[in-house]
Amino acid sequence: MSNKLRAGVFGWPVKHSKSPRLHGHWLQKYGISGSYEHIECAPEDFETHVRALSADGWRGANVTIPHKEAALALADSSSDIARAIGAANTLIFMPDGKIHADNTDGYGFIENLRQGAGSAWVLARPAVVLGAGGAARAIIHGLLEAGASEIRLTNRTLARADALAGQFGERVRVISWEKAASALPGAGLIVNTTSLGMKGAPPLDLDLSGADDDAIATDIVYTPLVTGFLQAAMDRGLKTVDGLGMLLHQARPGFEAWFGTAPVVDEELRHLMLAP
Ligand code: ATR
Repeated sequence: MSNKLRAGVFGWPVKHSKSPRLHGHWLQKYGISGSYEHIECAPEDFETHVRALSADGWRGANVTIPHKEAALALADSSSDIARAIGAANTLIFMPDGKIHADNTDGYGFIENLRQGAGSAWVLARPAVVLGAGGAARAIIHGLLEAGASEIRLTNRTLARADALAGQFGERVRVISWEKAASALPGAGLIVNTTSLGMKGAPPLDLDLSGADDDAIATDIVYTPLVTGFLQAAMDRGLKTVDGLGMLLHQARPGFEAWFGTAPVVDEELRHLMLAP
């Protein structure tokens, strides 16, 4: 076993993941002798593979589709957040052989907003969340933890929004997808967590005329970086925060746990990640 610190990202498929580029940049920047690798692994092999790397002295791993639920299930311990979300994106292999699971998606979302919107973001005002999938679950959890006063949740499939609201309690109010625009007046934050607007997907059609002039719009879609929704928000004069930063910030806790240095998200990193 060499002294090199090793970590990676589990997925199926995983070749498209830009996480190795991200962590590789930080390893180089901070002069750490380590590696971060793609780990292509079928669902039926996942647990065996994770335990083998842990036994081999690896520091941990990120986990992406389709392994996020399995990652939580196999862990010896997990954060409250991972359990509330029901999925893990970060595994930490402890020196005693135990495996700890965390979910940093909500953290990444909040940190991206803090960096991108700064003091313009006021938690005391309601937030509108579009979508009720896994990403919405993490984001709603993050917003509530951060102290959001009210979340207006809207989703094409009403039952999924109702189920999420049921889990999170009375600060989350459901509004029908058809009436999404009526949720905007008074809101300080508008978040797209759906896949609408992603390259190859239909656009997100939301009439922003009723939004407050000082509302912030943010999108978890970052391909393209400026989605139709963010462009419409800019045209409406709103402040916008793109989704790339969420990807970058969600990676920070894992990097710090595995490699011992708290990394920084800056413009240089954003440029690197946007390169083809
Ligand atoms: P993730 O885990 O990444 O959030 P997901 O669970 O598949 O992915 O959720 C995708 C979200 O995009 C859902 O809110 C989905 O709405 P439904 O719950 O109604 O499926 C939303 N979405 C995807 N395509 C959509 C479309 N054409 N119109 C409206 N919403 C859409």
